[in-house]
Amino acid sequence: MPKFVYQLMEVLYTALEVRNLTARLKNEAGRLGFVPTMGALHEGHLELVRQAKSENSVVVCSIFVNPAQFNNPEDLERYPRTLEKDSELLRSVGCDILFVPSVMEMYPSPLDLRIDFGMLETVMEGAFRPGHFNGVGIVVAKLFNIVQPDRAYFGQKDLQQTAIIKSLIRNLSYPVELRICPTVREPDGLAMSSRNVRLTPEERKLAPEIYRILTECKMSLQKNTPVKQAIEDALAEFARLPAFRTEYLELADTATLTPADTLRAEGNNALCVAVRLGKVRLIDNLVF
Ligand code: PAJ
Repeated sequence: MPKFVYQLMEVLYTALEVRNLTARLKNEAGRLGFVPTMGALHEGHLELVRQAKSENSVVVCSIFVNPAQFNNPEDLERYPRTLEKDSELLRSVGCDILFVPSVMEMYPSPLDLRIDFGMLETVMEGAFRPGHFNGVGIVVAKLFNIVQPDRAYFGQKDLQQTAIIKSLIRNLSYPVELRICPTVREPDGLAMSSRNVRLTPEERKLAPEIYRILTECKMSLQKNTPVKQAIEDALAEFARLPAFRTEYLELADTATLTPADTLRAEGNNALCVAVRLGKVRLIDNLVF
């Protein structure tokens, strides 16, 4: 008879408890993989956990809606919070430790440190969400210090965020290996996002246009349409759909994430977009 193995998951609320447990487990069990999230989990997050699970003996996941990275108070307030369901999902994919700190636990005193990521702060998400990457950098640095992972798992969905984490690891000498996982999409192409649940049914029907227009633009670039022209065509497609407001649509060099006016070598092109669809801000990208 097959044995039913019940996967235990430890849920911890304080940095001290996490630090003590991960230090012990690293000694006893080997490699520790870490998946930081803000909760409202979907398949994209779960894939990160599955990959972490396949490459490490212990997997720690954190759920913390980080006020420091929200430049829009309404976005912070409306961010979906589904802790009970999230815990069940994490348990089902074999997460070993779930860290759910409170805001007081993470920020016992007002934050008076800034991390400036230079060029990365001035383009795309950096330009449209002032202070966002400072907040991401600080919370991830704090989480790395608490969890002390060997490997950390991030999604390509937030491409510029992965560049921020690379910079953090390199500049602050974190002994952490960054693992970047492919974007998980709905069957209609829409990149999974915790914010998708905030779309109205009509907006949800329109949302796959983002991936469709991006893909068309990518194919046009691959057929040697000049970059400026291909971008203009894609922007015109969005403009035809009044529900969308495009914040940026850019071809960027994957090495720097700065705008590229010509196509780079295969694998070095990132086509990145941010749109507003009703009240929801969505981002997506294709690397090719
Ligand atoms: P969050 O938006 O919850 O995302 C957590 C991780 O899941 C990020 O690395 C993100 O890139 C990844 N992810 C989200 N959607 C994905 C998808 N469709 N496919 C693959 N991966 C996906 O990103 C954050 O939280 C925060 O900024 C955080 C890093 C936790 C710092 O607060």
